[in-house]
Amino acid sequence: MRRHHSTTPRLTRVLGSLLLVAAAGAFSVGAAPAPRAAEPAPLDRVVPAPASVEPGGAPYRITAATRVRVDGAAGFSVRRVAAYLAGILRPSTGYRLPLTEQGEGGIRLRLAKGSFGPEGYRLNSAPDGVTITASAPAGLFHGVQTLRQLLPAAVERGTVQPGPWTVAGGTIEDHPRYAYRGAMLDVSRHFFTVGQVKRYIDQLALYKINELHLHLSDDQGWRIAVDSWPRLASYGGSTEVGGGAGGHYTKADYREIVRYAATRYVELVPEIDMPGHTNAALASYARLNCDGTAPPLYTGTQVGFSSLCVNKPVTYDFVDDVIRELAALTPGRYLHIGGDEAHSTSHADYVTFMDRVQPLVAKYGKTVIGWHQLTGATPAKGALAQYWGLDGTGAAEKEQVAAAARNGTGLVLSPADRVYLDMKYTKDTPLGLSWAGLVEVKRSYDWDPGTYLPGAPASAVRGVEAPLWSETLTRSSDIEYMAFPRLPGVAELGWSPAATHGWDAYKVRLAAQGPRWDALGITYYRSPQVPWPTG
Ligand code: ACM
Repeated sequence: MRRHHSTTPRLTRVLGSLLLVAAAGAFSVGAAPAPRAAEPAPLDRVVPAPASVEPGGAPYRITAATRVRVDGAAGFSVRRVAAYLAGILRPSTGYRLPLTEQGEGGIRLRLAKGSFGPEGYRLNSAPDGVTITASAPAGLFHGVQTLRQLLPAAVERGTVQPGPWTVAGGTIEDHPRYAYRGAMLDVSRHFFTVGQVKRYIDQLALYKINELHLHLSDDQGWRIAVDSWPRLASYGGSTEVGGGAGGHYTKADYREIVRYAATRYVELVPEIDMPGHTNAALASYARLNCDGTAPPLYTGTQVGFSSLCVNKPVTYDFVDDVIRELAALTPGRYLHIGGDEAHSTSHADYVTFMDRVQPLVAKYGKTVIGWHQLTGATPAKGALAQYWGLDGTGAAEKEQVAAAARNGTGLVLSPADRVYLDMKYTKDTPLGLSWAGLVEVKRSYDWDPGTYLPGAPASAVRGVEAPLWSETLTRSSDIEYMAFPRLPGVAELGWSPAATHGWDAYKVRLAAQGPRWDALGITYYRSPQVPWPTG
């Protein structure tokens, strides 16, 4: 259960964040410039660790003459990935890097039949060029993320840097361990703008995360416009934790997030949390309440006090309308219906509610995801359960989830004492909560999704997700400080083969990301567990 720590007054928190940002800025400005790398980064210094790395041969160097090549037959998506890559390289190299269908060498992106899978790729680097080959544009995009990390960190800067821009020689063959590699952002407890969500999507893409779960409704705010129930957003979205102005996404806003995410090969997973966590909806429409009386809006951080009225027919008209409109905005496969912490709903009512609501998700062409309490009801065929327990969660609860998994329910693993990005790193972390414990970087990384839940078949595990709840977070630098450096570790658990797992090697690869985050302006926690470069 999510509980709140003592509330730091808002102004103090804001000042604290500003100081953090200032400190981070001072650090990168004040530090001596890193010595020019005589050698390119080793081919295996990549997060998430690639499936296979064969270093060898002389390096490739990007120069003023380099072109970004696509085949004449390349479609829109391949050209878009090529333009995205050039867009990253041009500001820092200062080179023109034209896109072309002509010539030889350079940086080539090509589609080819092969055993890459929908997201895999091969990256070959030799003196005459770098070629990224995949069987789908998503694979080219992921290969581009790898190429970024093989170049000096300064490539991420927005102004011309000295270079040289050298990529080690050799071949990487890569594909993901799991199809579902997610992050969740809670836009209900505090609202985040379209621009802030896009910024986070760009950060997720760096580490090949391909699902963004948006927690669009909770007690404190309803964040998505629903035409048939307009007060959900206009009133239910009008505040947030601490009493700020809140906000919501118009349908155009939401479509823009979906569109942008698609250009980063990230699928949106919208969540409407039900039947609990619904005070914002109940406050917006009196008729949704069993007693016909709307409660006030809520700006605190307690959980478990609200419930939709399970035995009122209007509840299902409401849910049908919301799911219909949300499904129409959602090209992705999934619709998350929450189902956690329904402490004000009886067990019988919970089962009744889930039996009625899950078919509505199917009716509008989507697949159910629910928090793992859904396994206490009857998960629909094909549903995914998102496990958010702890090491210390009782055996009976774990077995309930494992039994569902043996029965065909897929699992997304989000153990709260490992991958809840809102947990404090140490007792001194200025942001975040600690109800699931303190979660330093090593603890967050050092577990295996394939064997994590006793009694659950490895084949039931569809992947991992790193949720970020926003009770204490108000700005992008807050999001980043909690996500970095833990998020890349979760991404690696989702992408890399189990055989590559190992903290000692990982922490070195992770440390090499720090200068990239400095270059990108990403705020992060300089964990003492990580051997950050000192240059
Ligand atoms: C949750 O943290 N209540 C899913």
